Amino acid sequence: MNISIILAAGEGTRMKSKLPKVLHKVCGKPILEYVINASKNADVEKNYCIVGHGGEMVKEALKDSQVVFKTQPIGEDYPYGTGYAAMQAIDHIEDDSTVVILYADTPLITDRTIQKLMEYHKENKYDGTVLTAYLDDPTGYGRIVRDGEGHILKIVEHKDATEEEIKIKEINSGIYCFNGRLLKYALGKIDNDNAQGEYYITDVIKILKEEGHKVGAYLIEDSVEIHGMNSRVELAFCEKVMRRRINESYMMEGVTIINPENTYIEKGVKIGIDSIIYPGTIITGDTVIGEDCIVGENSRIENSKIGDKVEIYSSTITESTVDDECHIGPYAHLRPNSHLGRNIKIGNFVEVKNSTIGNNSKAGHLAYIGDADVGKNVNIGCGAIFVNYNGRSKFRSVVEDNAFIGSNCNLVAPVVVKEWGYIAAGSTITDEVEKGSLSIARAKQVNKKGWVDKKGFNKDK
Ligand code: UD1
Ligand code: CA
Repeated sequence: MNISIILAAGEGTRMKSKLPKVLHKVCGKPILEYVINASKNADVEKNYCIVGHGGEMVKEALKDSQVVFKTQPIGEDYPYGTGYAAMQAIDHIEDDSTVVILYADTPLITDRTIQKLMEYHKENKYDGTVLTAYLDDPTGYGRIVRDGEGHILKIVEHKDATEEEIKIKEINSGIYCFNGRLLKYALGKIDNDNAQGEYYITDVIKILKEEGHKVGAYLIEDSVEIHGMNSRVELAFCEKVMRRRINESYMMEGVTIINPENTYIEKGVKIGIDSIIYPGTIITGDTVIGEDCIVGENSRIENSKIGDKVEIYSSTITESTVDDECHIGPYAHLRPNSHLGRNIKIGNFVEVKNSTIGNNSKAGHLAYIGDADVGKNVNIGCGAIFVNYNGRSKFRSVVEDNAFIGSNCNLVAPVVVKEWGYIAAGSTITDEVEKGSLSIARAKQVNKKGWVDKKGFNKDK
């Protein structure tokens, strides 16, 4: 059986944060989740995660992840270090298992690399294999020390390295593969006699080598994958790499992304072919976007379902459904639980909330449609307001098919506008508008002839 031990108990002091490091998000997901997913996708059957600092928060945030959490005791009275962390799962390691050790703070690792590492480990019958990389600047990383024939001897931490060892550019990624029985054995033998007074898991390699077991190193193809996430600067770097990966996966599937550098799409979003995403757009959650859509510059779409051939410009859509061929924006806002039928136009500065709107209806400018059921072919004029709130409770309005709401009307809910009902501009409607009738609810115009002259306002006369 393949098992993993994911180390996530460290404090992450360099983040300067109240949040545990592994819960900081990259492209909308905690970094730990990426590591867990990579492991699962690499056919690791059982995943153990070692938590410590902020452990309760971490467990809560990832309670659906199907990993088994083990808690590393943290505090002055307890040892510290990656080796001590791995020991927390020792009772779960079966002798004949293959154990992958992963660090929760390397979110860019891919399932493919984990899989290749395990294959290499098994094919060569190694007892311990470390994943390594060459870095131009290896500062801070553990160095891979090899003998004259190129066989790996040990890993030395930067802080423990000699002047010669410091110059080595091959580094320890923090990812390893071990034979279960020998890992347990070697973990029992490591000590904390080093510059940091920590129990290093890296010493397992040295112990296995010294005792005549077979250890190897697998060089990663792309060193970006093992980039550690220790500060907010590195967080931004990981975000950039992950965003690029995610956006490329959409492009490979037939979506045009005009500028992938500043387009933010969360993994899990679905977008149909020939849709075009313009710059500054953020698409998150369980959003599904159909084919041939244009999602315009600076739009935000969260947890929404968008049909085919929909155009959205500079608008925000949250938890809503938009059917085919709608045209939204610029500067429109669909708030939760709105459902637009087909071929609807929601124009500039129109806000829709908790409402359904039937096919071919239009609200072109400056309207608020809240808690309403609007039928088909309805025209909602500029400045119309669905008055849904009396300061205590909210009420619904119903506007039936083919109705016409004139400009600058108030519909005071609860109220019904029947089919083909017309409302004159500037009306405040509090009673039902009957089928096919025109309702005018405003003061009648009065013209006072010669009023300006009588007042003497016009000095030319
Ligand atoms: C570690 C490696 C180093 C490697 C580097 C790669 C050791 C001794 N050193 O150093 O060779 O080049 O990673 O990034 O392993 N953790 C715990 N409990 C602890 C201590 C750490 O769970 O008591 C976890 C941390 O949360 C983190 C991971 O282990 O996810 C690595 O710990 P960190 O302190 O960042 O190790 P490095 O000093 O970076
Ligand atoms: Ca680290």
